[in-house]
Amino acid sequence: MRSYRIAVIPGDGVGKEVIPAGQRVLEAAVAGRAKLDWQVFPWGSDYYRETGSMMPADGVEQLRQFDAIYLGAVGDPPRIPDHITLWGLILPIRKALDLYVNVRPVRLLPGVRGPLRDKGPADIDMIFIRENTEGEYAGVGGRVHVGTPHEVAIETAVFSRFNVERVVRYAFELARGRRKHLTSVTKSNAQRYGMTFWDDVVTAVARDYPDVTVTSLLVDAAAALLVRAPERFDVVVASNLFADILTDLGGAIMGSLGLAPSANLAAQPGVPSLFEPVHGSAPDIAGKGIANPIGTIWAGAMMLEHLGEREAAQRVLAALERLTAEGQVLTPDMGGSATTEQVAERVVALLT
Ligand code: NAD
Ligand code: IPM
Ligand code: MN
Repeated sequence: MRSYRIAVIPGDGVGKEVIPAGQRVLEAAVAGRAKLDWQVFPWGSDYYRETGSMMPADGVEQLRQFDAIYLGAVGDPPRIPDHITLWGLILPIRKALDLYVNVRPVRLLPGVRGPLRDKGPADIDMIFIRENTEGEYAGVGGRVHVGTPHEVAIETAVFSRFNVERVVRYAFELARGRRKHLTSVTKSNAQRYGMTFWDDVVTAVARDYPDVTVTSLLVDAAAALLVRAPERFDVVVASNLFADILTDLGGAIMGSLGLAPSANLAAQPGVPSLFEPVHGSAPDIAGKGIANPIGTIWAGAMMLEHLGEREAAQRVLAALERLTAEGQVLTPDMGGSATTEQVAERVVALLT
């Protein structure tokens, strides 16, 4: 039987609730066909309180031994500042493993009443391709004269040709296999170096994809259009920060942030990719057992697909669609009263 080694990092808050739900569904989906060999790592904010770091110094090297990584969420505000937790776990993993694209589907599942009253599943069906290792998240900058009236803080965005080109190319390839429409989102009217460079790379790569129509939007206008006319979007490529913001908006138009999945894909073969929901540790609902596990389960389906278990992945997605279509067992964020575990149990029952 095929066997996959999966590193599991539940992390903080609702991450510890949605990950077991995801594992349960994935186990059921591959039962009898493949074995998921999970290894759980207790890294995150509790680990930080015990050891002074979010993961061991060789954490990334440990992760390299696995076929994939399944992560919940990280962050324990206000107890630990977010820039410490996030720069201690998820961001260094994305960078060190060179998880260069972050694939984030935004899709209205059947039966879900999203906030956009006149839009149905045919209107909301897009995939964001997020640059995932540099841009506004490059980590280049500093603070000097700290605490004085002369204090200066600098945070520099970094756009490299090597990186932007491979991310844009990924987006064009994806668009070619879908509705052949790519939207590139920048802010070249105000940011005249990095963003105009991004536009130039898109124009150059577009020459290799004459069959794909390209629309270039400014990020402010893109935000408004996502609400007004989501049907105009198919594949969307954007910088690290812009796609971060727009995919929370994407989660909202899907009906809940708890529904949105993501795949952080490794550039090099043999390096594990990382699969996680788009949402964070949701401290406002953590510990209540009511977090929506659908985004995490869906991310798990993306992981199965990536591992080559396409049929099992499709069965998980079909079960999620049946779950939302029947609309009986849903968590409170979707207007239901079910617990995280009850949703997982129902998804397992709907696997055929
Ligand atoms: P959040 O995504 O955790 O929560 C935003 C809102 O969405 C909250 O009202 C929350 O209750 C709701 N929500 C989120 N996930 C849900 C789910 N599965 N089911 C139902 N409702 C859900 O964002 P935030 O509050 O800004 O951030 C909380 C912490 O998470 C911060 O420390 C932040 O830095 C961190 N964060 C981590 C990740 C990650 O690990 N990848 C992603 C985003 C935010
Ligand atoms: C996400 C999160 C992270 C990001 C944070 C927690 C650093 O919001 O995965 O969307 O911005 O990448
Ligand atoms: Mn985010």
